[in-house]
Amino acid sequence: MCGIVGYIGTRQAQDVLISGLAKLEYRGYDSAGVAVGDGACIAVKKKAGKLANLSGELAESPLAGTLGIGHTRWATHGLPNDTNAHPHATEDGRIVIIHNGIIENYLSLKEGLIARGHTFKSETDSEVLAHLIEEAYAGDLYEAVRVALGQVRGAYGIVVTHVDHREIVAARTVSPLVMGVGEGEMFLASDVPALLAYTRNMVFLHDGDMVVLHDDGFRITDLAGQPVERPIDHIDWDAEAAEKGGFDTYMLKEIYEQPQALTNTLIGRLHDDTGEVNLDIGLDPQSFKRISIIACGTAYYAGLVGEYLIEQLARIPVEVDVASEYRYRNPIVSEQTLAVVVSQSGETIDTLEALREAKKGGAKTLGVINAKGSSMTRELDDTLYIHAGPEIGVASTKAYTSMVSAFVMLALWLGRARGTLDETQARDLLHAARELPRLVEEALAPERVEQIKRVAEKYAHARDYLFLGRGVNAPTAFEGALKLKEISYIHAEGYAAGEMKHGPIALIDANLPVVVVATESRLLEKTISNVQEVRARSGQVIALLSDGDTENARHADDVLYVPRAHEMVSPVVNAVALQLLAYFTATALGKDVDKPRNLAKSVTVE
Ligand code: G6P
Repeated sequence: MCGIVGYIGTRQAQDVLISGLAKLEYRGYDSAGVAVGDGACIAVKKKAGKLANLSGELAESPLAGTLGIGHTRWATHGLPNDTNAHPHATEDGRIVIIHNGIIENYLSLKEGLIARGHTFKSETDSEVLAHLIEEAYAGDLYEAVRVALGQVRGAYGIVVTHVDHREIVAARTVSPLVMGVGEGEMFLASDVPALLAYTRNMVFLHDGDMVVLHDDGFRITDLAGQPVERPIDHIDWDAEAAEKGGFDTYMLKEIYEQPQALTNTLIGRLHDDTGEVNLDIGLDPQSFKRISIIACGTAYYAGLVGEYLIEQLARIPVEVDVASEYRYRNPIVSEQTLAVVVSQSGETIDTLEALREAKKGGAKTLGVINAKGSSMTRELDDTLYIHAGPEIGVASTKAYTSMVSAFVMLALWLGRARGTLDETQARDLLHAARELPRLVEEALAPERVEQIKRVAEKYAHARDYLFLGRGVNAPTAFEGALKLKEISYIHAEGYAAGEMKHGPIALIDANLPVVVVATESRLLEKTISNVQEVRARSGQVIALLSDGDTENARHADDVLYVPRAHEMVSPVVNAVALQLLAYFTATALGKDVDKPRNLAKSVTVE
């Protein structure tokens, strides 16, 4: 995460930066900083903690200048202190940069820079950018940034300014950047709401775009220096719509944010060359004999996928509990237990109390958590942040797929460390995990979304729904049913496909839509047999099939095709289709999907 604002024009830059950053604090609030100049000097001020700490100081001693860049940080590399706060400058202070994202190869770049005489002040990955640009600088700032970016691998939204130039150079890959076009002034930000008070004419930069901003205009190129044309869009959203990024609801926005959220979960953690996973946690992977995964709601279903993955790939016994049961069932815990709590908010009281229960028994503790600095993170031994960004829709979407991806990495890490996965197997899975953002992007292709919408509308008046899945996708069925009941209020059951015959089969008649997760897997034939059992009783089969599986399409009334994925990571891709099915069912019924009745985003009561 992290938020960026940039300004060049006639106003006092400090005011634009602070008001813009205030709209971006949702992207992080570990520290804030600005650099303000006028084309002949630059002054930097930065402070750990929320933006208010910085804006308070700036109110007392303002920085004068009509050109500036500002940042609000969500720490990834280095503690959230004043030194690691952005902006970062070269030793002589002449080049100042701000960065959002992760530079994956920063360590090797940093070693090279140190060997060539550069001195680093911070522990951040971002600071290498300032030094690389300094090395490449020969009078043309744009060119220096372009050459520097040619050496980095990873994600970045970057804004750069130089004491001798009245211009801002910016670029993006993966991390978002939007440019605001004013009269005699130009703006940049990570997100539209930061700029709406100043202009509604916006240019959405694409991956690989570079831009140079002057007082009266801009120039966009690609990273090879070739000119690029981007349209200027007029944004007529009101403030609330802007926060929803132009989508009707937060939930839909968050569904579409999944490729980005997954990139943020995975980035910097998977190393293709060695087949290794780096989770940056202190946990000794040999120090426990069993794992207890504990969570509530959607996070619990992510935990069930985690159980399957860890047992398959790392051969460690895992049990999964809903937190409200765990905390009162006098669980058997010892120093050889690893308790893994899973939570988007990090605040759910049952999960927090279950964590305390596990600690009482001597367990080591690890959290799979989204919200930075939340209560759980303060009590855990280690936290594996999922970096999905803020989730506002009550029904969890991007946090779920990011949690599942975190479990893919955890299982891989444990499997490698405990010798149950060799390098070839690990590389294979690592490659499959790396593909996830692209596959989810594909799963959101307009023609697929249209088909899901058609199917949702066809069955929107059903009274009940059944969801079936097997193996690693049994929890996909449970989560699909939960999503549907949460936002459409249709009664839905999620069942392991093989278990259907022991009960739910009695419900099947011509009025019961049955969603079957039947994507590529070693158990696909068995799942298809279950499909036949549904059809033999006149149930309506909606099959989730891998692209190209026309053979099995014959057995279904309706088919939702999803991109082919490695079985072990397929729950991430499959979940997206079921989120959309629930979404379009609820909207067809006129329900308020962002605020479903009786539910709360973060449940801090028992
Ligand atoms: C509530 C929310 C769910 C969420 C659950 C656990 O019930 O409505 O969407 O899955 O809490 O929340 P957590 O923040 O711990 O993941």
